[in-house]
Amino acid sequence: MPRVLSCIQPTGVVHLGNYLGALRTWVSGQHECDAFHGIVDLHALTVTDRPGVLGASTLELAATLFAVGLDPDVATVFVQSHVPEHSQLGWVMECTVSHGELSRMTQFKDKSAKREADFISAGLFTYPALQAADILLYDADEVPVGEDQRQHIEITRDIAMRFNGRFGKTFVVPKIITPRAGAKVTDLQEPTAKMSKSAAGDSGIVYLLDEPSAIIKKFKRAVTDSDGEVRFDRTEKPGISNLLEILAACTGRTPEQTATAYTQYGPLKADTGEAVVDVLTPIQHRYRELMGDQAELSRLLRVGADKARSVASATLARAYSNIGLLPPN
Ligand code: TYM
Repeated sequence: MPRVLSCIQPTGVVHLGNYLGALRTWVSGQHECDAFHGIVDLHALTVTDRPGVLGASTLELAATLFAVGLDPDVATVFVQSHVPEHSQLGWVMECTVSHGELSRMTQFKDKSAKREADFISAGLFTYPALQAADILLYDADEVPVGEDQRQHIEITRDIAMRFNGRFGKTFVVPKIITPRAGAKVTDLQEPTAKMSKSAAGDSGIVYLLDEPSAIIKKFKRAVTDSDGEVRFDRTEKPGISNLLEILAACTGRTPEQTATAYTQYGPLKADTGEAVVDVLTPIQHRYRELMGDQAELSRLLRVGADKARSVASATLARAYSNIGLLPPN
């Protein structure tokens, strides 16, 4: 059974891109693999400086992960800061990646550019090293993510191979897994930019907890183009292609197949909005139920952290030992 690991940051409300690009794959894969899924609160610290915010959003995200269908009896769902091995291996990873490699990360360039007038933490720069630790601690064979994480998985593979070359076979070199449709959901108002929690406005982002009427409205107002032809072409027709890809992801078809059913933009927008509402409504009900019992959510996260630690501590010990650090006694 392959081991799978993937994580999500507790920054802001989960959106449709997170769901179609990652969470849905986590849920569909949980029975065929040994699944570990982390809520990476320490990663969120790279862009959070207000006290008392992360704990609440971590619990809300836990409810969201169970609401979308992760089964705590099958998948291990844990909070990163509950498993101290992440920080410990994170440092080792920082010493295994070069400054030059980190400088080439497009996410760092994008995020630091957006925060131009803001505090840019060193953690934002070294972020991929901690992400490599998240993955390598679990001997993950596969990492199911959206397309935007490709560079981070590639650098993780480079780090793993470099470490194994220096200190002997220690880490599994993981593979990226992206969904057939939905790997890059774009902003409905700016269809060349990915749908992102850090976007300037909300009107192009569909949140998992949006009211059905708000979702329908956002799709109705989606930016398209003026040539009037329904065709899947990401370069020439980014708005229409995004709608086709979202509808395809919600209905289990390909964007190209989906396109053949439409000759006009209006019905495509309406059907996509409705398909998204159909997918999200049951998730919203389960989310509300789960948030009604926060003690149970905390219990599930405790169980998840215990399971995660039992794997992570063995990998960390192996890494320390292969490096040849002096054991405590
Ligand atoms: P994060 O929290 O930004 O996003 C969580 C997951 O959602 C995917 N995603 C998208 N997929 C399709 N379209 C979009 N518009 C879209 N926006 C986000 C992301 O690809 C991701 O899979 N660095 C990671 C978190 C992380 C991680 C890890 C992931 C930390 N450690 C270890 C995998 C393994 C991040 O910021 O994801």
